[in-house]
Amino acid sequence: MRAAANISTIRTPIKSFDVDRIRQDFPILKQRIHGKPLVYLDNAATSQKPQHVIDAITHFYCNDNANIHRGVHLLSQRATDAYETARIRIQKFINARHAHETVFVRSTTEAINLVARCLGSRIVGPGDEIVLSAMEHHSNIVPWQMLCEEKGAKLRIIPITDEGELIWDEFEKSLGPRTRLVTIVHMSNVLGTINPVAEMVQAAHSRGIPVFVDGAQGIAHARVDVQQLDCDFYAFSGHKLYGPTGIGVLYGKTGLLDSMPPYQGGGDMISTVTFEKTKYNILPYKFEAGTPDIAGAVGLGAAVEYLETIGFDSAIAYEADVLTYAAEALASVPGVRLVGTAKNKASVQSFVMKGIHPHDIGTIVDEFGVAIRTGHHCAQPLMDRYRLPATARASLGIYNTKQEIDILVEALSKVSEVFG
Ligand SMILES: Cc1ncc(COP(=O)(O)O)c(C=O)c1O
Repeated sequence: MRAAANISTIRTPIKSFDVDRIRQDFPILKQRIHGKPLVYLDNAATSQKPQHVIDAITHFYCNDNANIHRGVHLLSQRATDAYETARIRIQKFINARHAHETVFVRSTTEAINLVARCLGSRIVGPGDEIVLSAMEHHSNIVPWQMLCEEKGAKLRIIPITDEGELIWDEFEKSLGPRTRLVTIVHMSNVLGTINPVAEMVQAAHSRGIPVFVDGAQGIAHARVDVQQLDCDFYAFSGHKLYGPTGIGVLYGKTGLLDSMPPYQGGGDMISTVTFEKTKYNILPYKFEAGTPDIAGAVGLGAAVEYLETIGFDSAIAYEADVLTYAAEALASVPGVRLVGTAKNKASVQSFVMKGIHPHDIGTIVDEFGVAIRTGHHCAQPLMDRYRLPATARASLGIYNTKQEIDILVEALSKVSEVFG
């Protein structure tokens, strides 16, 4: 039998961040692309997975696989234990007060749809307003827009500066008697801006308005303490946090989650069923209808365990240093203009090159083994704000290095040569 994928399989904690050691934990980084070492700078789209996560999933399927919560046999108990242990790891990672406030969902997108449907449809009526920013991802626009269309409500948009920072006065002005909810991205996937979520929550709460936070990016590049933020909801996807795809988390405060009806009906979300009436299960199971992504949850639990063991705070500090280097290096390339220069930002640097379409940039740098993303990044209203059809975006993870940024810069010189 394989060794259990437990904490002992992770390298010992490191004091100062040793990126060379970290890189060895990510098997995918060892490969070559077009004959060149892979330089993976598309972490905002999805992150790579450490061996510890891969092992945890393999271990689960090789040893513990069974359906959860319903079985008395040992395998089912082990699977349930693995699933619930993952929940507790995640609860601790985000410092939620209770484990039942950590609901497993498919993704950030599903979490937003869940709250729009289960809370939004109850608290939003004709003429009401939902406040969100000009830098939201489509996932944090469309579900609310659908709700507004249904209810005769409208979206109110907080404008941003050219640097990519929220205009605070405009935010405060947007909070009015018809505001039913503020929904805000913690960290922009295009600009890298980290929004002042705690202050926004305070301002909204002082007017009795709940706040939803889209943490799809924030969770992997900032320390998140949901009690300190005091947000009502915080959503993220496992795959951007070095965990698997298909699993995500909705954090919600107990009172609000309790007040909401279930999102989907099915197995596990009930306590009793008769043809006359169904009584729903307690939190968090009320929101986890059907067989969940058990192995995905186990993998996400392992990702969080990995990050805490290597030293997540030093990883964030390390990444910030590489981002500063990247911004300076990119800005020094002739013809490059940075998009997103907020003071408080992380991981992401978007840019454009004079007279060159971002897709052409992406295609040429790929020949150098460099993976960046180009396009509207699921933020078309933000592209409109900057009057751009698209940007190129380099986004960092904990394993990226300054040498890799140099390779990107060298590749961009080639782009200038070809199209200049
Ligand atoms: C800020 C932001 N919100 C939401 C999402 C949606 O995440 P997912 O596709 O994992 O649901 C993303 C994905 O890129 C994102 O960057």
